[in-house]
Amino acid sequence: MIREYRSVKDSQTTLTELMIPAYANFGGKIHGGTLLSLMDKVAYVCAHKHAGKYCVTVAVNQVEFLEPVEVGEVVSMLGSVNYVGHSSMVVGIKVVSENFQTQTVKHTNSSYFTMVAKDESGKPSVVPELVLESEVEVRRFLKAMKMKELRKGLNEELRKAELKWTLESAYTLLKEERCMFNIA
Ligand SMILES: CC(C)(COP(=O)(O)OP(=O)(O)OC[C@H]1O[C@@H](n2cnc3c(N)ncnc32)[C@H](O)[C@@H]1OP(=O)(O)O)[C@@H](O)C(=O)NCCC(=O)NCCS
Repeated sequence: MIREYRSVKDSQTTLTELMIPAYANFGGKIHGGTLLSLMDKVAYVCAHKHAGKYCVTVAVNQVEFLEPVEVGEVVSMLGSVNYVGHSSMVVGIKVVSENFQTQTVKHTNSSYFTMVAKDESGKPSVVPELVLESEVEVRRFLKAMKMKELRKGLNEELRKAELKWTLESAYTLLKEERCMFNIA
């Protein structure tokens, strides 16, 4: 089989969008969901450019909005394929928001979208390997691998913990928590 390769910059994508009042929540800040939807589009474009075929979003990780985004700011989303498996790709998206009036730029979040390429029948389909051309790209690839490994471990730990929980143990575990039982 011929091995196919594509560099990170081949699929790098930036989306810049003005934050209009229609994107705001009742508090006047931009909806997290609006930003997520834009990020998903960037992830799709990056993944499709790398894979050369239809892709789906499988998982979204590390979505923490550290600073609010205001109406009137200009948000840029910079997407890069950080890692490829067989059919999956991790697209890292850095979100920065620029306020032209105050001339400030803030980094609101960096999130990671796992995308999977599909063939015509809807089955996961192999994607080109990634050419790493800088130390930063090597570090991002390693970080994505580590995150994948940690997520697997976390899921396993959660499964084990869930098996142990009973209603009786919950009375003790939740004694100091801010909740009450009202089970009929
Ligand atoms: C995710 C999906 C492709 C997995 O399909 P599957 O037949 O079980 O295939 P596999 O188990 O071989 O997984 C395919 C790849 O997805 C990855 N994957 C599956 N579940 C994952 C998860 N929860 N998080 C991260 N990666 C995941 C696997 O590691 C594998 O990667 P690799 O090929 O690089 O090794 C399938 O469940 C699907 O299509 N889900 C719906 C996705 C969708 O429609 N999203 C749009 C939002 S509604």
